[in-house]
Amino acid sequence: MHEEVKIRPFWYTDMWVFPKLITIITTLDEKGRVNAAPYSHIMQYDVMAKTPRMMVGFRQDSHTFQNIQATGEFVINCPSADYLDDMMETARFWPEGVNELEHTRFTTVPSKYVKPPTIAECPQVMECDVDQIEILHKSSGIVIANIKAILMKEGLKDMPRKERLPEMNLPIGLGDESRRLYYHTYGGEVSEHELMEPPQGLAGGKIEFTMQWDNDAQKQMMRIPVGVREMVVKNTEEFVRNKGADMVTGALFKELAEEYGITDDLLERFEG
Ligand SMILES: Cc1cc2nc3c(=O)[nH]c(=O)nc-3n(C[C@H](O)[C@H](O)[C@H](O)COP(=O)(O)O)c2cc1C
Repeated sequence: MHEEVKIRPFWYTDMWVFPKLITIITTLDEKGRVNAAPYSHIMQYDVMAKTPRMMVGFRQDSHTFQNIQATGEFVINCPSADYLDDMMETARFWPEGVNELEHTRFTTVPSKYVKPPTIAECPQVMECDVDQIEILHKSSGIVIANIKAILMKEGLKDMPRKERLPEMNLPIGLGDESRRLYYHTYGGEVSEHELMEPPQGLAGGKIEFTMQWDNDAQKQMMRIPVGVREMVVKNTEEFVRNKGADMVTGALFKELAEEYGITDDLLERFEG
């Protein structure tokens, strides 16, 4: 039996667990002073586009949100679990103009494309600039941001994910209680689960071509996972039409796939 819980602003999220990635967002104010604070209301946005974006939700009167509105730039730094106490230090309601990082073990280095600094100790970092801001009435400020750069600590980029995850040891927030005690989880086991194709999945799938596909292109299409095949067919045909061609060739298919980062290496992962 389930028991219904009252839906309240802010608080209900703590009852219904949303695992949230712990990040520290660095910004500059209009005077160029560094500000840092934890934010975990953060998600990928528009992921299937060629240039995926990010979504971050802020209390509208936070220094971070005000700085982003004023300067249009920020850096998302993900600390490892070893720095959870330092991260909590940056969450305090310090007065405007205080660089919270000075109260922690964190050090900064210049970012690559934006002015706010990068936290040197963070294994993964993302530099962003604002695409759009939505001020929700009596609620949060939502920032949709372009990803200017993704940076990984040296050695992580080419590490298989199975090893990279424990190496980064990123904490996940599991909510809080009374806005004072925060719960996080990290480390532990990394388990692997294979996504299986349905029987005959690779051979079947619902595909409707609206133009001719040469053999090579059809063969390549069969390597695309069934779940996204319909969308890939549509996008490919649109791409080919925009190029002024009337047949999908293997070469054109490959050109589009590469633009989307669909490489041989990636496709091999879906094959049995
Ligand atoms: C783990 C953690 C996650 C947080 N996530 C958010 C968030 O997603 N949005 C938000 O508005 N505040 C969030 N906060 C609260 C802000 O970090 C806090 O209000 C901070 O003082 C704001 O600092 P600022 O005014 O310098 O931006 C979070 C705090 C913690 C400890």
